Amino acid sequence: MVTRAQTDRLRKASLEVLLKNRRVTDGHQYTVPSPSTYPYQWLWDSCFHATVLAQFDIGDAKKEIRSLLTHQFDDGMLPHMIYWQPGDFVTIPWGKERTSSITQPPLVAQVVWELYLRDRDIAFLKELYTALYRFYSYLLRERDPRRNHLVGIINPDESGEDNSPRFDAPLGLSHEQTLPENFGRRLMLVAQLQSCNFDAAYCMKQYFWVKDVPFNSFLAKNLEYLAKIAEEVGLADEARGFRAEREHLVVAMRSRMLEDGIFWSTNGADYSKIKVKTWAIFAPLFAGILTEGEASALVERHLLNASEFKTPFMVPTVSKDEPSFDPRGMWRGPVWMSTNWFLYRGLIDYGMHDVAEDLLESSVAMLERAGFREFFDPETGEGLGAHDFTWGALIVDMLVYAGEASARTRGASRSAAS
Ligand code: GLC
Repeated sequence: MVTRAQTDRLRKASLEVLLKNRRVTDGHQYTVPSPSTYPYQWLWDSCFHATVLAQFDIGDAKKEIRSLLTHQFDDGMLPHMIYWQPGDFVTIPWGKERTSSITQPPLVAQVVWELYLRDRDIAFLKELYTALYRFYSYLLRERDPRRNHLVGIINPDESGEDNSPRFDAPLGLSHEQTLPENFGRRLMLVAQLQSCNFDAAYCMKQYFWVKDVPFNSFLAKNLEYLAKIAEEVGLADEARGFRAEREHLVVAMRSRMLEDGIFWSTNGADYSKIKVKTWAIFAPLFAGILTEGEASALVERHLLNASEFKTPFMVPTVSKDEPSFDPRGMWRGPVWMSTNWFLYRGLIDYGMHDVAEDLLESSVAMLERAGFREFFDPETGEGLGAHDFTWGALIVDMLVYAGEASARTRGASRSAAS
């Protein structure tokens, strides 16, 4: 049981870190993930921030999303980093001055929809719809040029899990590697992508062509939210179109990625499965694309398995029985609060409340012990990586999500009954 006092302390600490990391440039308000290590605006980070800010001040949550959408590319892509301040140092040659040239997981439709559920501000939905339409259309068009219904990422950083061992083979790296080696190889990839002008359809075939399970799972879930938004602003045809895209995507994930109960990311034109067990195998839970039987088998066999993902502090990003597992290595074993948040929501949505409660308690224990660090050792709970890192604030959403989910279900069954 998480106590009232713990909840109060964590809400207070979460708001503090979000306020400390808040920046305003030219009237645009946004939050940097960590002042010393990550002093820019990032795409999926801002989606996390807005989700949490909605609990404190919905106006601030909307500002976070508005600033995020200011640097959309002509083709609809949302860049994964925005360098707001003139003094922001850019060490990566993206070929752009103010942004990167790649994207990050497409969570923004879901956040916008959840903000809308709080205040029913239809003007906000109407204001943002075109930008959302253009972003998701970009992904469906440019990241799936052959219309096979799975979208590709062109760089590991687009997954948000920059150094994950899922990407070792596609990058031509062995599992035994140092952080500088991995970074060097990813910088080389940026140079390669520059040589093909970051034109995804073309670059994918040459340099890096991964269909990632979390990215596609997030997209599936977000197409559903985008459809709801389209409906709400009176565009029923577009809503139908996005629902159909979601259906195709889920069918394609099942046919190309699923084997023996696990969805695997794929590499290359022939969709060879990348059989490295990372937390990504649980992303379909968050997206709601598993049957109840599949979901409980996945959780029993892997999440609760002491030689895989069951550790004193849950949930490691890589299974303990993987040769690449490193409890202190960036995206190669430690616990991240983002992945815990995805998993927690998935478990609650599937009604697995006991497992979800353990995950919540473990997350609370880590934060109380180590503070708002970037990631945590799954064996000891020790905090690692950046300081004053905002993702710990996702605990605020986890603390209310189960209650809000059951209120939603009650609301849904009431309206079904009426
Ligand atoms: C690291 C993470 C990425 C995150 C960024 C800012 O690069 O891998 O997911 O968006 O930091 O927090």
